[in-house]
Amino acid sequence: MEIVGRHLFAAVLTAIAFVMLTPAVQAAPVALGDKTCLECHKAEHAVWSETKHFKSFRTVHKNKKAKAIVKSIGGKSMKKEAACALCHYTSISKKAGKKAKPKAGPSCESCHGASSDWIKIHNDYGGPNAKMADETPAHKVERIAKATAAGMIWSSNHYGIVENCMSCHGLNNDALDGKTLAAMLDADHPLNPDFELVRYSQGSIRHRYYAPDATKNAEMTPAQLSELFVEGQAAKLVSATDALTKSDNAKYQAAQKLRLEKAKAALSAVKSVPEVAALLSAPTRENALKLIEAIKGKDLSAEVGSMIPAKADFK
Ligand code: HEC
Ligand code: HEC
Ligand code: HEC
Ligand code: HEC
Repeated sequence: MEIVGRHLFAAVLTAIAFVMLTPAVQAAPVALGDKTCLECHKAEHAVWSETKHFKSFRTVHKNKKAKAIVKSIGGKSMKKEAACALCHYTSISKKAGKKAKPKAGPSCESCHGASSDWIKIHNDYGGPNAKMADETPAHKVERIAKATAAGMIWSSNHYGIVENCMSCHGLNNDALDGKTLAAMLDADHPLNPDFELVRYSQGSIRHRYYAPDATKNAEMTPAQLSELFVEGQAAKLVSATDALTKSDNAKYQAAQKLRLEKAKAALSAVKSVPEVAALLSAPTRENALKLIEAIKGKDLSAEVGSMIPAKADFK
């Protein structure tokens, strides 16, 4: 009996290992497009439709600079270049395996994660007929965990979203090689070292329809803005440190060093949180996450308030 049991155990382990290894050879998740979210997220969609992310889809390829930048990487059309699509477009394929085509500018899934693997989980409240109101608290916890594992970036994982901003706005997408980066920069592709999270996320981008009044796009309080400001500087520091190893192109290096210096200067003002010093001496993702955890719910206005952009300057 015992030996049979052990064999069975081994077989089960092999089966589990097989199941666990399989996803590694499966295709990466793909974006399904903003229309997938529209049905249930009308307010967020309306906000997005007024942003430059939405509007640039119709214009950016016609930009004077665009042709020269595409040419510099050996391409002809911006819409056909995968390297440009990485940041400028949401590419959607009609069927799995079909080539993805750019259908919109940066959209919902550019920030919240490509949804092909998580959309079903997101919309399952506990069975085919279950409504949101029927969902048990335990099911909700499980649903959030499963969706996260499948690549959804919830708003509670704010840092995860902000890393996406930085990968595009810091010109630091892992799928870009150093040669492409150097060519783009030499053809005058912009890299703005002044991308600062409060200014860039609390203007046109802001969608915060939270309970208790989910009809209202809530502005952040000064305390929340101070936390967001520090979070943005932490993400920028980690992104710029990482970027410096990607290309030795002179323009790229200069812009990334500026990002790094600006983030360091801003963070140095925060003396009350020991995790800041740890991040400054070792700018890793892990240390940034520790800092984010340490400042949760804190009001850092006294230390960083004077550096936070005024509302009139929000993008
Ligand atoms: C069938 C309806 C439905 C669809 C389709 C849908 N959602 Fe949701 N979503 C909801 C509801 C309802 C909630 C809030 C309750 C919950 O899920 O816990 C929510 C919550 C969210 C949240 C988290 C909000 C928070 O408070 O943290 C995000 C982010 C989100 N959705 C993004 C998306 C994106 C992106 C898409 C499209 C790829 C999408 N959703 C498609 C119904 C939907
Ligand atoms: C790693 C992300 C990333 C990649 C890859 C990328 N871009 Fe950009 N691009 C951006 C961002 C972010 C901006 C906005 C910069 C700013 O103004 O702060 C931008 C701006 C531009 C602009 C200026 C638009 C304007 O409104 O003035 C052009 C033109 C452009 N990109 C063309 C291209 C082309 C062509 C490619 C492909 C060879 C490409 N980009 C690849 C992120 C990227
Ligand atoms: C530029 C990045 C970006 C894009 C594009 C984006 N989001 Fe978000 N989203 C965020 C951030 C950041 C938050 C967290 C806001 C907060 O808590 O301050 C958020 C929060 C949310 C929330 C929770 C707050 C709320 O309004 O209910 C939902 C739901 C959501 N997004 C859905 C969407 C949908 C649907 C789209 C596309 C129509 C979209 N988002 C496009 C960055 C983005
Ligand atoms: C997939 C890449 C991508 C992601 C992720 C992304 N952006 Fe962008 N964003 C762009 C590009 C590209 C442009 C420039 C479009 C153009 O000029 O044609 C842009 C433009 C903007 C603009 C308009 C700037 C201006 O000068 O008018 C704002 C504001 C902005 N982004 C904020 C954010 C924030 C905040 C986040 C994260 C929460 C974010 N973006 C995430 C690619 C991205």
